[in-house]
Amino acid sequence: MRKPIIAGNWKMNKTPEEAAQLVRDLVPLVKDAKCDVVVCTPAVCFAAVKPIIEGTNVKLGAQNVHFKASGAYTGELSADMLKASGCEYVIIGHSERRQYFGETDKTVNLRATAAVKAGLKAIICVGEMQDERVDGYTDIIVTYQTQMALKGLTAEELDNVVIAYEPVWAIGTGLTATDEQANETIGVIRKAVAAKYGDEVAQKLRIQYGGSMKGSNVKGLMAQPEIDGGLIGGASLKAADFAQVVNF
Ligand code: 13P
Repeated sequence: MRKPIIAGNWKMNKTPEEAAQLVRDLVPLVKDAKCDVVVCTPAVCFAAVKPIIEGTNVKLGAQNVHFKASGAYTGELSADMLKASGCEYVIIGHSERRQYFGETDKTVNLRATAAVKAGLKAIICVGEMQDERVDGYTDIIVTYQTQMALKGLTAEELDNVVIAYEPVWAIGTGLTATDEQANETIGVIRKAVAAKYGDEVAQKLRIQYGGSMKGSNVKGLMAQPEIDGGLIGGASLKAADFAQVVNF
């Protein structure tokens, strides 16, 4: 009943020209996809990508958003700016932003709130570090991150939220959570949502897996009942590779 969603997180890759070429190649390869398809490009690529995906099933996303509408916030972009540039989605709280750019559960919540209130769809990332998994804290960490990220959002607003479970130790490392590990932790995240919003809302919410997801492992992960899609890094940077994931 939940429509899967596969999103590419290009991170800090591709010039506008390279981005245009990638989506030009991608559009025909994914035109029959049964899932929602999103490319989260660098902001400098929006203008190049937007006309190419217009009228197709490929949607545009950003990789971050500020929580204020405007003002003296050098280097930041507002939700309205993203919308006006063609974005429908925005990734929030990616572990790289948490690790390298001081993102906290509080700022993740502020950004998610601003995004949703402005009419963007928020892809909110949560996930444990390797030592947290080894020490047995995974469930506590993802529960806390999830509930903090959603704080103050209404059940209706959750229609415009996707959660991405990305175990930090599986990102860009070639290590993937096993199908069962990913399914189990996504089940924990769904329970964390149910605890605050009730089971019906939690059952509607789409929760992706992210972390070295690619053509060779997508089928097993997507066969798991809790996993509603993927947030794809490395394998989203070539049209053929990403299409293989999308057309799982
Ligand atoms: P990789 O697919 O490169 O591991 O990256 C996952 C990710 O961080 C997506 O947001």
